[in-house]
Amino acid sequence: MPETASDSSLIEFRGVAYGPSGGPVLLHDLNLAVRPGETLVLLGRSGSGKTTTLKLVNRLLEPTSGQVLVFGRSTLAWDPIRLRRAIGYVIQEVGLFSHFTVAQNVGLVPRLESWPPARIQERVDELLRLVGLEPALASRYPRELSGGQRQRVGVARALAGDPPILLMDEPFGALDPMTRAELQREFRGLQQRLAKTVVFVTHDLREALFLATRIGLLEGGRLAGVYTPAEFLRSSHPLVRRYLAAFHAGGWPAADEDTP
Ligand SMILES: Nc1ncnc2c1ncn2[C@@H]1O[C@H](COP(=O)(O)OP(=O)(O)OP(=O)(O)O)[C@@H](O)[C@H]1O
Ligand SMILES: [Mg+2]
Repeated sequence: MPETASDSSLIEFRGVAYGPSGGPVLLHDLNLAVRPGETLVLLGRSGSGKTTTLKLVNRLLEPTSGQVLVFGRSTLAWDPIRLRRAIGYVIQEVGLFSHFTVAQNVGLVPRLESWPPARIQERVDELLRLVGLEPALASRYPRELSGGQRQRVGVARALAGDPPILLMDEPFGALDPMTRAELQREFRGLQQRLAKTVVFVTHDLREALFLATRIGLLEGGRLAGVYTPAEFLRSSHPLVRRYLAAFHAGGWPAADEDTP
């Protein structure tokens, strides 16, 4: 293992650029260290590179240059399967398997790891309770659930193998505001108990301020800054000010317009 991250980070981007071969550069010179137990929120508008950044962590994508280190080791030096078992992933649009029941979806990683059936069932029950779902839902199929319930199943599935790292890509998108607020509150409570290292993607400033230990602001494939929520609110960075102005106006920041 030639590369070692600083002791205080579980995930580290070192000078990372990414672009598909023959395509445009989607991420530019990303330097970012995620600390154990923190919830780092990647905030940015659609197309800013949030999902691309997450996929570099579990090696669904490989950097064009630079390195992504997980537990101090380049993702390229990891066996991809082992790497992904250490990382729970809640994908954008949930991504449950439609032909699997809730129990089969949640129990996927334990099954792949050949846990005995009784232990898998216990774990599934425990996880459903953890995310606020009735164990009676275990035998349903995803199409028989509401959107909010599906999102909870997605979170339960990502937690199933007790991975130290969670990647969450707009896990509470496409929900009504009240359900969304409820899931955000529950997730925050859960996070206080489980203390996972989380990279959480959103384009919602309110969600970012509520959940983040730190906020990494992405714009056009570049990291514009990393802030605690308090620092974000005080920052004079023009992009941050645009976010805050749009937030107060209830709209979305215009592309090239600066607030005074
Ligand atoms: N394989 C690809 N080839 C070319 N461009 C791509 C490819 N994959 C993604 N992109 C582009 O890269 C940019 C970043 O995409 P990404 O999915 O990371 O954005 P995002 O911040 O997650 O957006 P959203 O909030 O809409 O999910 C977008 O402009 C997208 O169109
Ligand atoms: Mg995305």
